[in-house]
Amino acid sequence: MDFGVSVDQSLSKEEKYDQILPMVKAVVGAETNLIANLANIAAIFKYNFHFHWFGFYIKERNSLVLGPFQGPMACTRIAKSKGVCGAVVDQKASLIVPDVNKFVAHIACSAVTQSEIVVPVIKGHDVIMVIDVDSEHLDHFDSTDQKHLEELALIIASLD
Ligand code: SME
Repeated sequence: MDFGVSVDQSLSKEEKYDQILPMVKAVVGAETNLIANLANIAAIFKYNFHFHWFGFYIKERNSLVLGPFQGPMACTRIAKSKGVCGAVVDQKASLIVPDVNKFVAHIACSAVTQSEIVVPVIKGHDVIMVIDVDSEHLDHFDSTDQKHLEELALIIASLD
């Protein structure tokens, strides 16, 4: 049995997201453990979009702690309001950073990262975690990524 979730690599980014999100729903619908689901989501996105890093930072009291991810080793803990991730928790809204070298507050976990998008997962009124995606290319993320990663955030927020 093939457990892989993959799409035709010749598809456009929008088409890839449109195919992958229903697959993600099916994958997470078959398992109740949140960590297992986040781990598979990270793998699905990393390998279909070839992002440098795709993962989650989970709210723990006042800080964010590293959750499941795919990519190089990363900072384990982000203090309140620090980095792009902390800014997203504070503003409860997504942030696209086209050039991380120009974003003063950016926390560099990897020297390779050039651009980044962070999307909050909001449950009730609280940000419970963020989705963090890094690219080794400048200006890699746009409104298409934001729209679909926010859909992913809604799927994750609906999990128990
Ligand atoms: N760059 C993030 C830190 C996490 S790493 O990108 C994996 C930030 O500034 O919050």
